[in-house]
Amino acid sequence: MDRARPESMDMAMTSLEGSGQAGVADARTDLLERFETIYREADGDCSRIPWAHARACPFLMNWLDAEGPSYVRPGARVCVVGCGLGMDAAALVERGYDVTAFDACSCAIESARQLHPDLARSFVHRDLFDDPGKYRHRFDMVVEVHTLQSMPPEMWLGMAKRMSELVSTRGVMVVVARGRDAGMPSGVVDGPPYPLTQDELLEALEGCGFEPVRAIDNFMDDNSPAVRRLRGCFRRSG
Ligand SMILES: C[S@@+](CC[C@H](N)C(=O)[O-])C[C@H]1O[C@@H](n2cnc3c(N)ncnc32)[C@H](O)[C@@H]1O
Repeated sequence: MDRARPESMDMAMTSLEGSGQAGVADARTDLLERFETIYREADGDCSRIPWAHARACPFLMNWLDAEGPSYVRPGARVCVVGCGLGMDAAALVERGYDVTAFDACSCAIESARQLHPDLARSFVHRDLFDDPGKYRHRFDMVVEVHTLQSMPPEMWLGMAKRMSELVSTRGVMVVVARGRDAGMPSGVVDGPPYPLTQDELLEALEGCGFEPVRAIDNFMDDNSPAVRRLRGCFRRSG
């Protein structure tokens, strides 16, 4: 993976390093390198990527069916953060949204372009910590599926802030993540993934001036064994 970092990202990471969290910055780099290796070796075969599926995330699709139209109309600009192989992005395009999807792993973006050649231009190799530039406040909806949870808890607020910068004034942010029982300390989790408690998700989003449009969904899925899931739609507070 190209380890060169643009200046703006260096500033974000330098502040992490300067805040005594150099270990977190290193952990992030290591994780992204691990993800990159997995994407490269899988070469677009989702069965070789532990988190990937050959379909869009059902928890996102259910939300889009039931509630999406209240917040975004067809043609709305949607950004998928940490898009991986691009299944969610492709499903959003099918629903008529104008989609930009990015991932920090270049091999993920290469595979996404190969899997969805008609949408190749929708997929961008960029890091959430890059300067938002033309993406600042551009999107009516910013979607992230399993991206916050792919990084350690110390990263969540910074990531949520960067996502919030992409959202237009009246836009929303939709988050789907693995959940953790409120009583379970984060330190015992040997991630990734690093599941969030409902309060941790709320804290990260409130920390960047967002509030849930209604109570966060917190439920057990129908996997065996069942996995706790969190799903929330957030807008600017006040
Ligand atoms: C667990 S995977 C989920 C991928 C995809 N959303 C899915 O559901 O298959 C997390 C993804 O987030 C990406 N990611 C993590 N941190 C990122 C960042 N700072 N900027 C862009 N992508 C990031 C990783 O490269 C990885 O593809």
